[in-house]
Amino acid sequence: MNQKDCPPLLAVKHLGVAFETDQGQVLAVDDVSFELTSGQVLGIAGESGCGKSVTALSLMRLLPKPVSKIKEGEILFKGQNLLDLSTDALGKIRGKKISMIFQEPMTALNPVHTVGRQIVESYSLHSPGMGEKEKIRASSQMLAKVGIPDARQVMKKYPHQLSGGMRQRVMIGMALACEPDILIADEPTTALDVTVQAQIMDLIFQFRDKTGMAVILITHDLGLIAENCDRVVIMYAGTVAESASVTTLFRNPFHPYTKKLLQSIPSRAQTAKEPLPTIPGNVPALSEMPAGCRFAKRCEHAYTPCEKHLPRLISVSSDHFAACHLAHSGGKKSNFNK
Ligand SMILES: Nc1ncnc2c1ncn2[C@@H]1O[C@H](COP(=O)(O)OP(=O)(O)OP(=O)(O)O)[C@@H](O)[C@H]1O
Ligand SMILES: [Mg+2]
Repeated sequence: MNQKDCPPLLAVKHLGVAFETDQGQVLAVDDVSFELTSGQVLGIAGESGCGKSVTALSLMRLLPKPVSKIKEGEILFKGQNLLDLSTDALGKIRGKKISMIFQEPMTALNPVHTVGRQIVESYSLHSPGMGEKEKIRASSQMLAKVGIPDARQVMKKYPHQLSGGMRQRVMIGMALACEPDILIADEPTTALDVTVQAQIMDLIFQFRDKTGMAVILITHDLGLIAENCDRVVIMYAGTVAESASVTTLFRNPFHPYTKKLLQSIPSRAQTAKEPLPTIPGNVPALSEMPAGCRFAKRCEHAYTPCEKHLPRLISVSSDHFAACHLAHSGGKKSNFNK
């Protein structure tokens, strides 16, 4: 089979996720689509609340119940729709084929079991044939790799006996121990100091090189994406604003929101006193989403159609997609006839 005939490792198609709130049902993620191939590193970026974590949790089917619901779409893992799987079938994929590093480590750690028991369990899941001693040795080696000194002692402790940074590293160690096909890393290093951040990112990418694991890296840090990712999805207010290869997106951004985001990255030439440009205005609340483009109120290029119609994601050049009326009209406002 040539590569074009192979399904991507992961294809998210038109994902829509709703929450029940006091204001009624709101769509936190709306028509989100992207693909991932083996070994690829995909960055997902966008302002706080734009739906990055909700998208990630949907992939693992870990959304909070009963307040949330996947309303539409497909999540195809090796061609199989995860949304059709029974809990048992999903259990064979979650934590083994697809692992996740959460923003908050206690989400993944069990407070009543020692760190050692939990990481050994990760090896049991991935390599049932491994002997007990071997699993303990591999666990302590993994903890050492994620920068935990005196790993054997740490294995005897409970999560609450560790600092936040240590807990984060334990969770990362557990996620990597399963040698997943896909690692979803949701702000994996936010809680860690800068030198440890770099170590952890290096470790994740060494694993990628060794095992061919694909990575979804969710971060506010566009610098991290520029340095480490192959592709990038920019989200805005629950939708995909733009997606492209990292080179294309950083050299030739299309969406006005992406352009503004890129301007807000500190450059080396910037002096400490120079304020970074910010994007005036706010993201609309989920309960007050406009009918038109969600970025229109903050966009200096907005014109009549932007207020009226929600732009869909369309191709603007080879392998480069944007949800902007300027894309629909070939980049010219006057060509838009709706
Ligand atoms: N349990 C919930 N009930 C209601 N709304 C929720 C719930 N969880 C998330 N949301 C809403 O869904 C939207 C997307 O949230 P999400 O956590 O995915 O944002 P994010 O992009 O990950 O932000 P951040 O960068 O701050 O982590 C937000 O408006 C959030 O308030
Ligand atoms: Mg988040």
